[in-house]
Amino acid sequence: MNKLLCCALMFLDISIKWTSQETIPPKYLHYDPESSHPLMCDKCPPGTYLKQHCTTRWKTVCVPCPDHYYTDTWHTSDECLYCNPVCKELQYVKQECNRTHNRVCECEEGRYLELEFCLKHRSCPPGFGVVQAGTPERNTVCKRCPDGFFSNETSSKAPCRKHTNCSVLGLLVTQKGNATHDTVCSGNSESTKKCGIDVTLCEEAFFRFAVPTKFTPNWLSVLVDNLPGTKVNKESVERIKQQHSSQEQTFQLLKLWKHQNKDQDMVKKIIQDIDLCENSVQRHIGHINLTFEQLCSLMESFPGKKVGREDVERTMKACKSTERILKLLSLWRIKNGDQDTLKGLMHGLKHLKMYHFPKTVTQSLKKTIRFLRSFTMYRLYQKLFLEIIGNQVASVKINCL
Ligand SMILES: *[C@@H]1O[C@H](CO)[C@@H](O)[C@H](O)[C@H]1NC(C)=O
Ligand SMILES: *[C@@H]1O[C@H](CO)[C@@H](O)[C@H](O)[C@H]1NC(C)=O
Ligand SMILES: *[C@@H]1O[C@H](CO)[C@@H](O)[C@H](O)[C@H]1NC(C)=O
Ligand SMILES: *[C@@H]1O[C@H](CO)[C@@H](O)[C@H](O)[C@H]1NC(C)=O
Ligand SMILES: *[C@@H]1O[C@H](CO)[C@@H](O)[C@H](O)[C@H]1NC(C)=O
Repeated sequence: MNKLLCCALMFLDISIKWTSQETIPPKYLHYDPESSHPLMCDKCPPGTYLKQHCTTRWKTVCVPCPDHYYTDTWHTSDECLYCNPVCKELQYVKQECNRTHNRVCECEEGRYLELEFCLKHRSCPPGFGVVQAGTPERNTVCKRCPDGFFSNETSSKAPCRKHTNCSVLGLLVTQKGNATHDTVCSGNSESTKKCGIDVTLCEEAFFRFAVPTKFTPNWLSVLVDNLPGTKVNKESVERIKQQHSSQEQTFQLLKLWKHQNKDQDMVKKIIQDIDLCENSVQRHIGHINLTFEQLCSLMESFPGKKVGREDVERTMKACKSTERILKLLSLWRIKNGDQDTLKGLMHGLKHLKMYHFPKTVTQSLKKTIRFLRSFTMYRLYQKLFLEIIGNQVASVKINCL
């Protein structure tokens, strides 16, 4: 029964559309009062009302609606409709009345119409985010934040936000996030808590020395045994051996060791010259003060996975101008599976669109690369070996250089 009715309605709908397209102006049937003959008169257009039916001699007479009245279809009525008197409380006039359109009222910003009343849009509580913002006709739609997202506010606008990804920022997780709280990260020490550079350029340069695996097959174990502080455990060493090329293994091991010995000064204590190196890097690039756009275009020129505008924005907030480039370089390294930062930087400088980029900056960056690859650094490597591991292993390394 319902199906039949539905089909009938559909048919009706289609036929009405079809007939109304027939002719303009549309006609209606009228019997001439004098002759009683049937006539096809023109209907009146929107904005008018019917004054006189047509006759055998005259066309239909339509005249414009008076002020505050309208008609919005072709019709045969002898009067216009009154524009809705006024908009209700908490509504405003979205469209004023004219001869062809009724007045349109709409709820004020932040409200929607429900049974004649303009009600406030719902606010989503903490743990819920907005998936469809409210409109003048519809209430807000909230949804519980899925895994990995949170909302810590009561809001009719805010969607769930992604938890902060600590590892991308080079930081450690101190409190895992849930639906109502963001993940809390922390740096490796008080001084780097905010900006959080996990491995500095100098440390990276030290950590990446070529490994004499040919002469010392159990190289990693020797290193583990001789490093001071909390030792890297055997499982981690095995994992590093399995997951990384021999070139990468030393870097991964020293990085992990540094993380485990959170006191950042541990590295400085055993390699006193690292301070000299850091100071030198600061001298080269510490004065550089780039704008947001400049930092973005610098990072855009790097190969591989990009450090995006969001990361740059966060870095601008968290880091002093003297640390920003270093932080972005370390983010790029982390995103790209610990690839050599200096290689990325060299590639970047080659492909950097020079437009609006200060030449002094590119020169300073090139000087920094040269410094970190210089003979001075090789001398520091030797010292590293003497100081960390003792003469026996160091002699192997020095012979290899
Ligand atoms: C009447 O209002 C409607 C909607 O605001 C507009 O599109 C139309 O042009 C107006 N007509 C006149 C004659 O002003
Ligand atoms: C953080 O980002 C890294 C790299 O994009 C990704 O591999 C990792 O799964 C992310 N961690 C979380 C908790 O989303
Ligand atoms: C979410 O984490 C916060 C602190 O991290 C905690 O106070 C709160 O109880 C947690 N909520 C749920 C539902 O687990
Ligand atoms: C919500 O979380 C963000 C990001 O962690 C934080 O900056 C903000 O202060 C928090 N707001 C409230 C009301 O707790
Ligand atoms: C860096 O430049 C900005 C404007 O471009 C300026 O406001 C800021 O003080 C500068 N910072 C330093 C440390 O020079």
